[in-house]
Amino acid sequence: MNASHSAEARKPVLRIRELTLRFGGLIAVNNLSIDVAGGSIVGLIGPNGAGKTTVFNVITGFYRPSEGSVEFMGQQLTGLPPHRVCMAGVSRTFQNIRLFQNETVLQNVMIGSYVRQRGTWWQNLVPFLFPAAAREEREIRDDAMKLLERLGLAEQADARASSLPYGAQRRLEIARALATRPKFLLLDEPAAGMNPQESEELLNFIRRLRDEFALTILLIEHDMKVVMGVCEHIQVMDRGLLIADGSPEEIRANPRVIEAYLGQSAPEAGDEAGNGVGGFKAGDFKKEEIAHAGH
Ligand SMILES: Nc1ncnc2c1ncn2[C@@H]1O[C@H](COP(=O)(O)OP(=O)(O)O)[C@@H](O)[C@H]1O
Ligand SMILES: [Mg+2]
Repeated sequence: MNASHSAEARKPVLRIRELTLRFGGLIAVNNLSIDVAGGSIVGLIGPNGAGKTTVFNVITGFYRPSEGSVEFMGQQLTGLPPHRVCMAGVSRTFQNIRLFQNETVLQNVMIGSYVRQRGTWWQNLVPFLFPAAAREEREIRDDAMKLLERLGLAEQADARASSLPYGAQRRLEIARALATRPKFLLLDEPAAGMNPQESEELLNFIRRLRDEFALTILLIEHDMKVVMGVCEHIQVMDRGLLIADGSPEEIRANPRVIEAYLGQSAPEAGDEAGNGVGGFKAGDFKKEEIAHAGH
């Protein structure tokens, strides 16, 4: 039995309470309350513009909520800046891959570790004056290398991030998030742009991550096969509101969820959050498709 199945692990670690975020007149997140159980893989789904990425931005300190609170393992995250949220054990990836494209794969992962670093960057420039900082730099490099080995990216350590195939870039972004040693990982559409084989691999990869790194994972994903295949619990948002909350089976059969997806018009162009074009089209979510995903 792994840790994720023990009663202790199943207590809620993340508690979002009555969260509201307004952008001018637009209510992107409307009085949202959700719990995420420790050790679980939970899906946050909903049509384009539902407010999912905004929820991630609030949890991770990129946006300050208009109202409400976010608590992680008993600690208030509300109002903390992103690096403090990260130090509290919460790390994320982005809907549009954010890598330092001209840096190497290894450097991209090392950047994640600097959040935990004690020495400052200028101490590392003069290692003979600051041996402790130099040692720390070496440790960070070794840790990053180990992480790459575990994620099957070690052979590409010295390659430029931009030279990796798309699926590997997504894994690299996850590696960088893991370098901060999170307890909680937020993944924003990790399967976006992946081919069916890559998303199949991603399914297994996400499960492995949860088990091997003892993580709790909150996953935004449009690919229903990934969502239904990997999530133990699913929360559904539509126009800022939580409209459903249940097991994959319950969500699949929920008329409100099906209606929300079918009512979705063609996706709009990229928005100010940099979310780009993508996501659902009405035709993507035929009732039968939702019912068959994950089988
Ligand atoms: N920084 C922002 N400024 C103004 N509106 C925003 C901003 N970020 C998101 N929005 C709007 O908030 C709503 C929810 O967006 P988002 O959270 O990105 O949705 P999702 O991730 O579910 O597709 C959308 O209408 C979007 O245009
Ligand atoms: Mg989004």
